[in-house]
Amino acid sequence: MRFHDFHDTTRFGMTDNINTLKGMHILLGVTGGIAAYKSAELCRLLVKAGATVQVVMSESACEFITPLTMETLSGRPVPVRMFGRTRGPLEHIDLPTEADIMVVAPATADYLARCATGRACDLISSITLAFDGPVIAAPAMNTNMYNNPATQRNLKTLRDAHGWQFIEPNAGELACGTTGKGRMAEPSQILATLQRLVKTDLSGMTIVVTAGPTVEDIDPVRYISNRSSGKTGYAIASRAAIRGAHVILISGPVSLTPPAGCNVVQVRSALEMASAVDAHSDGADAIIMCAAVADYRPATVSREKVKKPQLSHIELVPNPDILAGLGQKYKGQTKPMLIGFALETENIETNATQKLKQKGIDAIVSNLASDALEGDHTRVTVYLKNGNPIQTDVIPKLQLADLVLNLIHQ
Ligand SMILES: Cc1cc2nc3c(=O)[nH]c(=O)nc-3n(C[C@H](O)[C@H](O)[C@H](O)COP(=O)(O)O)c2cc1C
Repeated sequence: MRFHDFHDTTRFGMTDNINTLKGMHILLGVTGGIAAYKSAELCRLLVKAGATVQVVMSESACEFITPLTMETLSGRPVPVRMFGRTRGPLEHIDLPTEADIMVVAPATADYLARCATGRACDLISSITLAFDGPVIAAPAMNTNMYNNPATQRNLKTLRDAHGWQFIEPNAGELACGTTGKGRMAEPSQILATLQRLVKTDLSGMTIVVTAGPTVEDIDPVRYISNRSSGKTGYAIASRAAIRGAHVILISGPVSLTPPAGCNVVQVRSALEMASAVDAHSDGADAIIMCAAVADYRPATVSREKVKKPQLSHIELVPNPDILAGLGQKYKGQTKPMLIGFALETENIETNATQKLKQKGIDAIVSNLASDALEGDHTRVTVYLKNGNPIQTDVIPKLQLADLVLNLIHQ
């Protein structure tokens, strides 16, 4: 199952766009192609659809359309230069932090090349590099530039390794006088694509997501924990919020910025996580247990630092199995849907299907530790109580997030 590219957008005609993107904070990047004149119309449509639009332009883009035009349409100052300080000295970090999604239209061949190689040589590239949400780009260029293996390689890298999505250029007459593929998708197509991506299909739903590790204290300085980064849970929470759900993110200690639009409950230990889940589970439509909850905790937490000789004899007691507890609590009920995660180092299928049955849950997302820990990508198999398993390639965690949320939506 792969995330689609958006080349078939023509069938999504413009309808009533009022407020379809309400609450979205969109970073609109404009780079230096002739199609930059269309960005003004795109900006207007996004604002009309209810989005907050922060435009950022490359210096080349200013040869084609003025920042004043974009500033007037978006109602916000438009940063262009790396050291321009339009919104303060750290706009290359602050602007990406505020945004839910980045749309770059048009995206020049050179901008794509810069991003594919991780360059941060100008403001728009730096912002793109610093942005950790979904990026959607509408490339536009001469047909030969587009078909050039270098550009195709960059597109592939950005799609496969960085998780970007592209609104493919249309074929037709180009500004350079030739005919072929390379004309930027129309603003209305780009808007329709965004509306499709930023679906509000989960609105009205309450989704509880747990993320990160738990930390089981031994004494004031030592603890037992694991290497869970929290990235998958945070990606799911972020996508669920963008798709309109009321999200409660129960998070163990991680070094990630909580996604916009989520109610975040910070916990430390498995016991704290269990009581937070218990407090929020009634009334939830789905509970997605991504957290790597420690199986055991020290029987007592010493107030003083434990002396070295005693460290090899710490008595451990089992933590509650939160997922199994939920399976028991909601047995025979259709709500909430319960989804667990299983990280294995071997025998994935046997272990995952066993857990699915034993814990009485609806689905289990299983992956190999070597495929999943800490990175931005993963490869999973989803085992369902009712249905055939779904296997993915290596995919960005944001893409996995949508896959899991689609199960809930269905
Ligand atoms: C008239 C004119 C039109 C251009 N149109 C495009 C275009 O449509 N797509 C493209 O990739 N580059 C185009 N270029 C080249 C880019 O402007 C150039 O590669 C520039 O360095 C891109 O900078 P940027 O990526 O920072 O915006 C054009 C150049 C000129 C002079």
